[in-house]
Amino acid sequence: MKALHISEKQDIEFWPRIEPDLGPSVQARSSRAALVLGGCLSYLALSLFLFPSWPPFRNCKHSKWHRERMPLSMLEEIMMLTPQEEEARKHSDYYTSGPHLGGKNFSQAMWTKERWEEYGIPEVEIVSYDIYTNYPKSHRLGLLKAKGDDYKLLYEASLEEPALEEDPTTALKDRIPTFHGYSANGNVTAEFVYANYGTYNDFEDLLSHGVNVTGKVVLCKYGHIFRGLKVKRAQDLGAVGVLIYSDPGDDGKITELNGYKAYPDGPARNKESVQRGSVQFLSFGPGDPTTPGYASKPGVERQDPSPFIPSIPSLPISYMDALPLLTALNGHGKNTSEFGEYWRTGGLYHKNVQYFSGPAKGIVVNLHNEVEYVITPHWNVIGKIPGYIKDETVIIGNHRDAWIAGGAADPNSGSAALLEIAKSFGKMIELGWKPARTILLASWDGEEYGLLGSTEWVEDHQKLLHTTALAYLNVDVGARSPVFSVAANPLLQDLVFNATQKVVDPNRAQQGHFDDSVYDVWNKKVRTLGSGSDYTAFQDHLGIPSVDMGFGGEDANGPVYHYHSNYDSFHWMEKFGDPGFKYHVAIAKIWGLMALQLAETPIVSFNATAYASSLACLKDFVSASQKFDAEASRLAHELAKDIPWWNWWKKAALWLKARAINQKYKYLDRAFLHPEGLDDGRHWFKHVVYAPGKWTGYSGDVFPGLLEAGREGNWTNVCRWVRIIRHSVDVATKELSGPL
Ligand SMILES: *[C@@H]1O[C@H](CO)[C@@H](O)[C@H](O)[C@H]1NC(C)=O
Ligand SMILES: *[C@@H]1O[C@H](CO)[C@@H](O)[C@H](O)[C@H]1NC(C)=O
Ligand SMILES: *[C@@H]1O[C@H](CO)[C@@H](O)[C@H](O)[C@H]1NC(C)=O
Ligand SMILES: *[C@@H]1O[C@H](CO)[C@@H](O)[C@H](O)[C@H]1NC(C)=O
Ligand SMILES: *[C@@H]1O[C@H](CO)[C@@H](O)[C@H](O)[C@H]1NC(C)=O
Ligand SMILES: *[C@@H]1O[C@H](CO)[C@@H](O)[C@H](O)[C@H]1NC(C)=O
Ligand SMILES: *[C@@H]1O[C@H](CO)[C@@H](O)[C@H](O)[C@H]1NC(C)=O
Repeated sequence: MKALHISEKQDIEFWPRIEPDLGPSVQARSSRAALVLGGCLSYLALSLFLFPSWPPFRNCKHSKWHRERMPLSMLEEIMMLTPQEEEARKHSDYYTSGPHLGGKNFSQAMWTKERWEEYGIPEVEIVSYDIYTNYPKSHRLGLLKAKGDDYKLLYEASLEEPALEEDPTTALKDRIPTFHGYSANGNVTAEFVYANYGTYNDFEDLLSHGVNVTGKVVLCKYGHIFRGLKVKRAQDLGAVGVLIYSDPGDDGKITELNGYKAYPDGPARNKESVQRGSVQFLSFGPGDPTTPGYASKPGVERQDPSPFIPSIPSLPISYMDALPLLTALNGHGKNTSEFGEYWRTGGLYHKNVQYFSGPAKGIVVNLHNEVEYVITPHWNVIGKIPGYIKDETVIIGNHRDAWIAGGAADPNSGSAALLEIAKSFGKMIELGWKPARTILLASWDGEEYGLLGSTEWVEDHQKLLHTTALAYLNVDVGARSPVFSVAANPLLQDLVFNATQKVVDPNRAQQGHFDDSVYDVWNKKVRTLGSGSDYTAFQDHLGIPSVDMGFGGEDANGPVYHYHSNYDSFHWMEKFGDPGFKYHVAIAKIWGLMALQLAETPIVSFNATAYASSLACLKDFVSASQKFDAEASRLAHELAKDIPWWNWWKKAALWLKARAINQKYKYLDRAFLHPEGLDDGRHWFKHVVYAPGKWTGYSGDVFPGLLEAGREGNWTNVCRWVRIIRHSVDVATKELSGPL
C-alpha cells in the first residue's frame, strides 16, 4: 500500500484566493455567505492542515483525503514472514569466519552497513570513537618448584585452545590468543592460593580461615560474578596476579564424568577450552576507562584509567592447565571443602584435586602477561528509519565484536537476527511504510571489552537521547539454546509478553505442536537488569527503559556452551547450538515485533503499573500508575474508533491527549536518575533503581545505593538513600497524576 500524500502546495494556494472575499466593504448578505463559506473553507483547510501534521496513525481509512497507513497487523505479518533460517545461517557464517575483536575489523562494519543499505534502510552511517584498549602480545604460565636459588619447572601451561579438524575457524592462522581484555602487563613469580569463585565472600572466607592472599597469585574459577571484580578484589587485598579457569563442576550434568563426550565429539566441555573476557571493573563504570561520562572523540582530554581497570596481571586458563596447579596445593593450607557447601562445587575431585587453599611452600607460578595498550578507532553502525514523530525514538541494538574468530552465539546470532529485521523493515518501506516513530538500528563495536561502542555513543548523544529515546531493545546472544531468557525494565514487560505470544516455539512446532508459543514454553521470569551488555548506558546512565533478551538461557539437558572460546564457532552452532538456525529466526521475529509495536501504536505500550508494583511498598506510586495506565488504555480505545473527518476537534483533542500521555511515559524512567550517581566511585551509574551489583557486575540490584549503604552498615547513608528514592518516586507520582 502506498502512502497518499496531500499536496502541500494546493493547501497554500487555497488561502489567498479566499481572503479578499472576507473584506468589510461587501454587502451584508454576501458577507454572511462569505463568512459561512469562509468558515467552512477555513474549517476544511484547518482539517487538512491538522491531518498532515498528525498522520502517524491510521484513523480515517475511508477518506481519500487522509494518508492511508499500513495497519500494524500487516506490518507484523511481514515481520513474521520475512526472516528465514537459510539467510540467518549465511549471515552467521559471514560474521564468524574471521577474527573481529573490538576495534580490529572495519570490513565487518562496512559489510553490515552495505547489507542494511541493500535491504532498504534509508540512512546508515558508521560512527567511530577513539578508544583506549589493549591487544594480546605474549603470555606464559609455568608451575615451578624452588630448588636452592633456582627453580625447577614442573609444568608449562599450553594457554592455547587446540585447532580442531572439523571446526575450521579454530585453526585460523590469525586466531586470537587467550588473554583478558584490559588486563595489566606484568611478569610475576609467586606462591599461589585457591579462592573458589573469587567472590567478595570467598575472599572473606579465606581471610577468616587465616589464608593470606597478599603477595600471592590467586587461582579461582569462573562463575557467579563478573571476572573483572574477581581481579579487583584480589588486587585490593594485595594479590600480585590472578588466574581464572573454567571448572567442569559448573557444567551441570553434561560432563565427561557423567559419560558424555566432549566437543567436537559430543556436548560436554572441551577440557582445553578457555574463556577469554574483559577484566574491566564493570560495576564502577563501563566504556572507555580514560573518558568516563563523555565521548572518546579524537583529541579529548583523557584521565587515569586505574579506577576502572586492573593494575595486576591476569590470565584465563583451561581446566587442563589448572589441574597441575590445583593438585600441587593438595594438603597445603586449608581444606576448603570444609568451608561449606558453596566451596564443594568443584568438578575435579575425580582427577585427584582436593581443593586445598594453599599456599604450598616453595611451589610457585610464573605468570607473564604482555599486552599492548593503544588508542584506536571503534566502529558502530547506526541505521535510521525516520518516522513521523521525531522526538519518540525506538532503538534496537546488538554488538558485533567477539573475543574470537567465531562468536556464533555471542554476539553474532544476534547480529544475524538484526540483519533479518533490517530486511523485514526494508520490505515494509518498499511497500510505502514510514514508521509512526523513528527507529534506530545499532551494531556496536567493542562491547566485549566493556560496552565500549554503545557507551561512547550514548555519552555522545545524551542530550538528544534524553528528549527522544523511548526504549532500547538489546539482543546479545540471540540463540544458543531453546531457552528464552529476558531481563527488562517492567515498563516494557507487556511488550515481551505480547511478542513472545505471537511466535511459535520452533522445537515444539517440530514436534507437531503448532499452537505452543515461545511464551507458553518460557518460564515467564523477567529478570532485573544488571550489566554485562549494551543496554547499560541506556538504562543505568540515562534512564531509558531497556530490554535484554535471547534464546540464551541455561538448558540443563543441552550442550555445554563454550563461552568466549574458539569453540563458540559456526560449526558448534550448526551441530549443537541451534541446528537449522530456527531460534535465530524466532528471536528476529520477537525482537522485530516488539520494535513494531513500540513504533506504531498510537499510545506507547508501556505498563507503569508493572514498574510501580516491582518497587513494592510504594503505594501512592502504584495507584497513580494504575490510574494513568487506565486512562492510557481508555484513550487507546477511543482512538481505535472511526471518528468522522469533520469531527476534527474531537480528534485533535484526543491526539493532544495521546501526545501528553506518551510524553509522560517517555520521561517516567528519567525521574529515577540521581545526578550525583551512586557512591564509592560508581558515579557514572545514575539510576536509583537499577545498577549492577557492586561486587557481582552482571546481576542487577534494585535500589543499589540503598543496598550498598545497608551492606556497609552506614545508617547516615541509608537515610540519605531513602530520601533520594522517596524524592524520585514523588516526582514520578506527581508527573503521572498531573494534568494531561
Ligand atoms: C574481518 O572479518 C572477516 C569475516 O567476517 C574476515 O574475512 C576478515 O579477515 C576479518 N578482518 C580482519 C582484519 O581480521
Ligand atoms: C619473567 O620473569 C622471569 C623470572 O622472574 C624471567 O626469568 C623471565 O625472563 C621474565 N620473562 C620476560 C619475558 O621478561
Ligand atoms: C599478609 O601477608 C602480608 C605480607 O606477607 C603481611 O604484611 C600481612 O600482615 C599479612 N596479613 C595478615 C592478616 O596476616
Ligand atoms: C576435605 O574436606 C572434605 C569435607 O569435609 C572431606 O570429605 C575430605 O576428605 C577432606 N580432604 C582431605 C584430603 O582431608
Ligand atoms: C498485547 O496483549 C494484550 C493482552 O493479550 C492485548 O490486549 C493487546 O491488544 C496486545 N497489544 C498488541 C499491540 O498486540
Ligand atoms: C500491567 O502490569 C500489571 C502488573 O504486572 C498487570 O496486572 C497488568 O495486566 C498489565 N497491563 C496490561 C495492559 O497488560
Ligand atoms: C557514611 O557515608 C558518608 C557518605 O555519605 C561518609 O561521609 C561517612 O564517613 C560514612 N560513615 C561511615 C561510618 O563509614
